Amino acid sequence: MRLEFDDEQGVEYRPGQFMEVSIFGLGEAPISICSAPGKRDDLEMCVRTVGDVTQAIHELGVGDTVGLRGPFGNGYDMENVAGKDLLFVAGGLGLAPTRSFILDALNNRDRFRRVTILCGAQTPSDLLFRDDLEAWAKRADCEFLVTVDRPDEEWTGNKGVITTLFRKMDKIDPANTAAFIIGPPIMFKFAVLEALGMGMRKANIYCSLERRMKCGLGKCGHCQIRNVYVCQEGPIFNYAEVMRLREGI
Ligand SMILES: Cc1cc2nc3c(=O)[nH]c(=O)nc-3n(C[C@H](O)[C@H](O)[C@H](O)COP(=O)(O)OP(=O)(O)OC[C@H]3O[C@@H](n4cnc5c(N)ncnc54)[C@H](O)[C@@H]3O)c2cc1C
Ligand code: FES
Repeated sequence: MRLEFDDEQGVEYRPGQFMEVSIFGLGEAPISICSAPGKRDDLEMCVRTVGDVTQAIHELGVGDTVGLRGPFGNGYDMENVAGKDLLFVAGGLGLAPTRSFILDALNNRDRFRRVTILCGAQTPSDLLFRDDLEAWAKRADCEFLVTVDRPDEEWTGNKGVITTLFRKMDKIDPANTAAFIIGPPIMFKFAVLEALGMGMRKANIYCSLERRMKCGLGKCGHCQIRNVYVCQEGPIFNYAEVMRLREGI
């Protein structure tokens, strides 16, 4: 969905940040921003129905109003990864937060070296942002591979879980690559093993930790893991940090 602000202020955000979206009288849900970053007067978000708030968001129509607080969270450290090779590994709804970064990297192609995008979904109809996927597949300045776990009759592409794509992509330079792995926890576990197996450093493997969140402000403690407020210090962490927060995944 695309949201426009009803004031002139707009919002500035980084890839990996999220907003609290509220349906008045019902509640709020943290939702990642999936549009290209920068100073914007509109935002894009991709919402899966799981409960009351997300269901109510899906029942909205064009021109309806929601409340927005944010942006919250640390987002990706873009300075730290500038000049590196980028490896995006996005499973299912994980493509939503990853998309903001991918669009930024492709819009500013000279800031990064190689860009590799691995994308997976359970079935072809679960693939999100299909126009983007087609556009990325046609670009000569990035490598794009997509797979599905369970193909239908029309699917002629890769079959299998997303980690099977690690063996199909061009060889990476592990010392100079930053990997961004977002998807269901089980995918994260196996994708990290692949990245470590290729010789990548833990500090160069990034993920997004999803916790139950309420305030987004470091006040309510809903998102707390040990002494860390994920809504403030996260949701983006590198794998060396995740190792310290073992129960985070
Ligand atoms: C930083 C962050 C970014 C997110 N980005 C997106 C996004 O881009 N798109 C999107 O669709 N969703 C996203 N989510 C998840 C989304 O916030 C939840 O699905 C939403 O809050 C559920 O609210 P609800 O009222 O619809 O469901 P509820 O009625 O609160 O819950 C319904 C069911 O979903 C489970 N659930 C609720 N929240 C979570 C959660 N955070 N993690 C795991 N299970 C949960 C509950 O345990 C329950 O079983 C994000 C979450 C976080 C923390
Ligand atoms: S969501 Fe309230 S402290 Fe993080």
